[in-house]
Amino acid sequence: MKNLTKCLELVEADKSLLSPGSRISYYPLAIKRGRGAIVEDLDGNSYIDMLSSAGAVNTGHCHPKVVEAVKKQAEEMLLYTTVYMYHEPLVHLSKEIVALAPGDFRKRVFYGLSGSDANDGAIKMARFSTGRPKVVSYIRSYHGNTYGAMTLSAVSLPMGHRVGPLLPDIYHVPYPDPYRPPVPGMTPDQVSDYCIDFIKTAFTNYMPADEVAAFIIEPIQGDSGLIVPPVKYMHDLRRLCDEYGILFISEEVQQGFGRTGKWFGIENFGVVPDAMIMGKAIASGLPLSGVVSRAELMDPLNPPVHTFTTAGNPVCCAAALATIKVLKEENIPAHAAEVGAHAQHRFREMQKRFEFVGDVRGIGLSIGVDLVTNRETKERNRVATSKICYRAWEKGLLLAFFSGSVLRIQPPLVITKAEMDKALDIIEESMEEFEKGQIPDSVLDTVKGW
Ligand SMILES: Cc1ncc(COP(=O)(O)O)c(C=O)c1O
Repeated sequence: MKNLTKCLELVEADKSLLSPGSRISYYPLAIKRGRGAIVEDLDGNSYIDMLSSAGAVNTGHCHPKVVEAVKKQAEEMLLYTTVYMYHEPLVHLSKEIVALAPGDFRKRVFYGLSGSDANDGAIKMARFSTGRPKVVSYIRSYHGNTYGAMTLSAVSLPMGHRVGPLLPDIYHVPYPDPYRPPVPGMTPDQVSDYCIDFIKTAFTNYMPADEVAAFIIEPIQGDSGLIVPPVKYMHDLRRLCDEYGILFISEEVQQGFGRTGKWFGIENFGVVPDAMIMGKAIASGLPLSGVVSRAELMDPLNPPVHTFTTAGNPVCCAAALATIKVLKEENIPAHAAEVGAHAQHRFREMQKRFEFVGDVRGIGLSIGVDLVTNRETKERNRVATSKICYRAWEKGLLLAFFSGSVLRIQPPLVITKAEMDKALDIIEESMEEFEKGQIPDSVLDTVKGW
């Protein structure tokens, strides 16, 4: 048994002070420091990190080049608001972002502090530039917790409970899920056609296409359990958007910045979006978000439609510039693709061994392992998922899950193959111990999960 004295003390203090509305509970892990793919708790125990601070530290914890850039900028200037004045890191970063974003056209960018506010910004931009009120997102998506992002989201009832009314004119359509298709037995192409037909029916019945400003779609739907859509769907959606003058906005907050082996998740589908929403990993965990779009969509925006005093502050911009440099210099997206393919292979071997592993899916280092009570019905196995995460933590792995049943495999992209193998060994051992009934029910009182 490891020593957890300081961790448990801190967790108790936290529980008495912090709002319960701001935490999803897993286990008492109070983090003190992190390096690369490893974090250490207050009692000195270390863990391999499968969560990357919710996908925000793609360059690894405290990458020395990012830390150095932050220190250097902090000594120059912490903040002068970009709402009124100008600074170099902001312009340098914007040059990088417009060059990295797919699309051979002139682009512009604006910044915020969280993935949530960037989603709100995208709604504003889409409505203003098209003159249309309606924005469409996806059932079971998570876009954040400001009012706009919350309205786009449709993955959790408690999120919106008793805090409404939410934004008007936001619609949700089904995300194409090949594992749990709308009609059992459908092929991925049939799932795609079903979901496109759903939109066409909406256009002719209750959501006139000429009132729709944008579709906001994640290239892999994250919090519903890392659902990878059929390539066909993305192309058909792009065509539909073109036909009706609707914007195609790729929501890259969780999948961007190398996570899927490409700079942006949408690049895996060969589709060019009109705009992208960015957050999380853009500044290796410092608060920065943004929207990059075709220039003509932002050209008409009037100030101060999307300004925040501390958005695009020089320290976060310096961190983002260093993040981009590190991702390029260390060829990290390619590394993510390689380690991710290896991990998927090993999970597929586990799937052969354990009946409760229903599905293994993902791209690069964005992998979901879906645990079920029955492979036919695909009923979610929350008990298995909770117990396996808990046991993995006891063995030195920081592991979380989505949607009650999907192990979230999103480590820092700098994770070495040896670290990944060790993590996979821990998960496999934990699965085995679960199968043998060696993980007590009492852990379910602690692990609540997402
Ligand atoms: C796809 C997606 N969009 C938006 C957000 C919200 O980002 P933030 O928590 O930085 O506001 C998240 C956060 O988990 C996310 O996964």
